[in-house]
Parts: sequence; C-alpha cells; structure tokens
Amino acid sequence: MEFSLTPASLQEWPGAVLIVGIHEGDFETQLHPLESRFDAPLTKILEKQNFQAENGEITSFQLLQNSPLKLIVVGLGKLEDLSVNTFRNAAAKSAKESLGSEGPLGIFFPWKKLHSKDLINVVAEAIRLSLFKDLRFRSNPETKQPPKRIEFIGVDTNDFDNFKNISPICSGVELARELVGAPPNSLTPDAIAKEATKLSREFGLQLKVLSREECNRKGMGAYLAVAQGSDLDPKFIHLSYRSNGPIQRKVALVGKGLTFDSGGYNLKVGASQIELMKFDMGGSAAVIGAARAIAELRPQGVEVHFIVAACENMVNGSAVHPGDIVKASNGTTIEINNTDAEGRLTLADALVYASKLEPDSIIDLATLTGACVIALGDEIAGLWTDSDELSNELTKAAHKAGEGLWRMPLQNSYKEGLKSMLADIKNTGPRPGGSITAALFLREFVDQSISWAHIDIAGTVWSEKGSGVNPAGATGYGVRTLVNWIIREN
Ligand code: BES
Ligand code: MN
Ligand code: ZN
Repeated sequence: MEFSLTPASLQEWPGAVLIVGIHEGDFETQLHPLESRFDAPLTKILEKQNFQAENGEITSFQLLQNSPLKLIVVGLGKLEDLSVNTFRNAAAKSAKESLGSEGPLGIFFPWKKLHSKDLINVVAEAIRLSLFKDLRFRSNPETKQPPKRIEFIGVDTNDFDNFKNISPICSGVELARELVGAPPNSLTPDAIAKEATKLSREFGLQLKVLSREECNRKGMGAYLAVAQGSDLDPKFIHLSYRSNGPIQRKVALVGKGLTFDSGGYNLKVGASQIELMKFDMGGSAAVIGAARAIAELRPQGVEVHFIVAACENMVNGSAVHPGDIVKASNGTTIEINNTDAEGRLTLADALVYASKLEPDSIIDLATLTGACVIALGDEIAGLWTDSDELSNELTKAAHKAGEGLWRMPLQNSYKEGLKSMLADIKNTGPRPGGSITAALFLREFVDQSISWAHIDIAGTVWSEKGSGVNPAGATGYGVRTLVNWIIREN
C-alpha cells in the first residue's frame, strides 16, 4: 500500500474511489467542488437521505463514470469537536466502505481545520490498519483486494514531511495480529522462536533462545512449572536492538507468551472462552511486533530488549498440581494455588531475567486477568506502575497511538491476599481486585532500582466485532504504544 500527496483538486482528481469527510453544518460550501464536478445537487440529495454528517455517519454513491467510480461521504461531527481521533475513525470506517473497487483511493478531509502535524500520518495508518485481512488459513483467495495506492487530496505540503514511519509501524502491528490470530496448533512456542529468528536475520537483531535445560540451569522454576504439562517444549526468547553510537536509554519489553491457556488442572470451564485462549500470547505478539518496527525504524540512542518466555498451559500426567510449590529464578518460593494464574508465573522468571540486564525501565504486556476485562472492557488496557513519570510517558504514547490505556492502583495492602501458609507467596489472591493482586505479584520479581510498568491487555488483545482501526479479531494492541514510547523525543 503506497501513500502520496496529490496536487490535484477535488474537482479534477482522477482516481477510482473518492472519500470526502464533511463536518456538520454548511454542506453547501463544503460540497460545492463536488456539486460542480458531478453537476448534481449533492447537498439536496444528502438532506433527502437525512444525512447530518454526525461523527461516523457514512453514505456512498456508485457513479456512472470511470473516475471516480464511487463517492464515499463520511461525517466528522461538529466542527468545534474535531479531533485527531475523529479523523482516525472516519478514515478507518470509510476505507472499509471502499473495499471492492479497483484503482487508486483518494481522500479529502478538511485538513486545515485541525492543527496537528501528525494528522496525515494518523489517517494513513488508520487506512492501512483497518484494511488488514488475515487470509492465511483460507483455501480460496479473497476477491476484495485493498487499494494499492492512496492519495491525499488538498494537503498543504508545508504541513507535512513524509510517510516514512507508516510501513514499519503497520508491519509491526500486522505481525502482532497474525501471531495472535494464528491457531494454537500452528503458533506454538517453537513457531514464536522461529519468527524471532526470522526477524533477527532480516533486520540484524541479536537473538538468544534458551531451551528447557538452559532455563532449568538458571533456576526458572516458575516458568518451567507452567510448561511441564505440555508436550511442546518451552522457548525462552530474547531479541535485542542496539543503535549505533552512544546509548541514552536502555529498556526491556517483556510479553506474556502462552500459545494456549487451558487453565491447567484449574481447567477453564463454562463461559471462560477456552476456545479463544490462543490469544494468550498477545503480550509477546506486541513485543515482537514492536521489535520488527523498531528494527526497521532504527531509532538513535536506544538499546531495547524484547523478552518472551513462551510455552503452553496444558494438562497431562506431569502437569502442575494445584497446590504445588515451585522456586523462581530470584529464589522466591511460590505456592501455585491456581494453575490458571499461569501468566504471572512465566512472567516472574522473565522479569528476573530482564532485571539482570540492568535496564532503566521494564514494561511488561500480558493478557493477565479476566478481572481487567470486567473493569475496563475491550478498548482500554490497564496500566500499573509506581512511577508517575513512566505512567505519564506511556499514557501519552498510547494516546498518540489511539490505544486506550488507563492507570490502575498498586494497592500495597492487597498484598495480604497473596500470603501463603507455606511458601513466600501464592500465585492467586481473592477474586475482588484480581488484576491488582496480579500486578503486585509481578512487582515482586522486578529489581526495585528499575522503573517498571505492567500493562494488562486481556481485553484489548481481541475485538469480537472490530472497532476503530481494528478489524474483527486480533488487534495488535500495544505495538504502537510501545514504539511511540521508545521513539519519543524527550
Ligand atoms: N489468560 C487468562 C486471562 C484472561 C481471561 C485473558 C479472559 C483474557 C480473557 C489468565 O491466565 C487467567 O486465566 N487468569 C485468571 C486468574 C485467576 C485464576 C486468578 C482469571 O483472570 O480468571
Ligand atoms: Mn490462565
Ligand atoms: Zn493466561
């Protein structure tokens, strides 16, 4: 998909599908160029259809000429309420509407009504991300191809540099969506390791993959306990990127990588959506997607470590018993009172490993708790950190990406709920505040001199119906927030 600015005006643009965004009020002025081009009373026609240009309202016309073949009019709501997000969502919606027609897609929005230097890139990103389709598992190729060329009409070239970040970032998001969307019989721990190997070769990243034996030697008893009930070998994956020249920031990104979560002997039953638990590696997908984007963008002054303790949570004769006590690689003993709280066990050893790299900060992303889905739904991830600075930075990065993120409390008194009669800690607290105790559990495994944040993406990893720039299914949540955070300017 290629993006460009076109000097052509609305009256003469020669492509196939034309998207025009209009705000509420004064249709006459806004539609004048189109009325004269098509010699048709568009304002009256829209009024007849009762089209008000409300935010997200959309209508389209199949035209009896070659250029354009189709006109899509999308509402942007009230002029005074215009925001970057309005443009993002309107672009996504109208791009989906454009599918099925061949030839260049043109888009005209009232660009000048909003002063944002990112606007054009946001819209380009929204178009590409909303048109993504996963066809890997179909035997018949799809007929509706996305447009190859997208042209921005009426953009002042002084307001805009270029589209250079779009492809690396969207490729990262798409990779994450493909990893999450792939079924658990195809995306195994070994398949994640192979993807990491591919990235390391293609983009020159450093790679280490630790086997079960190597993890055992490092004392990763929590992670290996989760893996022991599966016929598939665990893979501990460590990719890293280092820019040339002096390093100002060294960070580690850790992602939960459960390629399937059956719950273990605390088997997922009833409405627990066991059939969706292929998405339990969404944290690792975000981290690997971010690795792909960072490797291609090659930002200066940073060293970034990407860490995934990949495995499956299954049941067999060697699986963990509920009640087993294991020892993590920092020496902490853990009573596993619930085998379905497995993500935090794998993350415990991954966070200890990340801490030993002595980064300035560690961010972990995980589909960690159903409680977070209940609290925040599927458009907002939960953020836990003791650092106001990190919280502000990540909130800003997420906002810029259009990804929902909301800070939640690390209530110290709730640690009481993790007290074990026998071991140092148990892996599961009481049901109320379940995502808070999960975060408090993770904090035990991070070196206190490192600023750390945990992002629970249990809700945002998947969209049942699709929304905003996300088609139905895997969202690739987190890639853009992480990348924005790493390439931020301060
Ligand atoms: N992967 C799940 C969390 C999850 C649940 C993600 C639903 C997305 C949708 C996690 O491993 C899990 O099972 N968590 C348990 C923890 C509980 C046993 C303390 C949960 O949330 O029920
Ligand atoms: Mn679980
Ligand atoms: Zn899980």
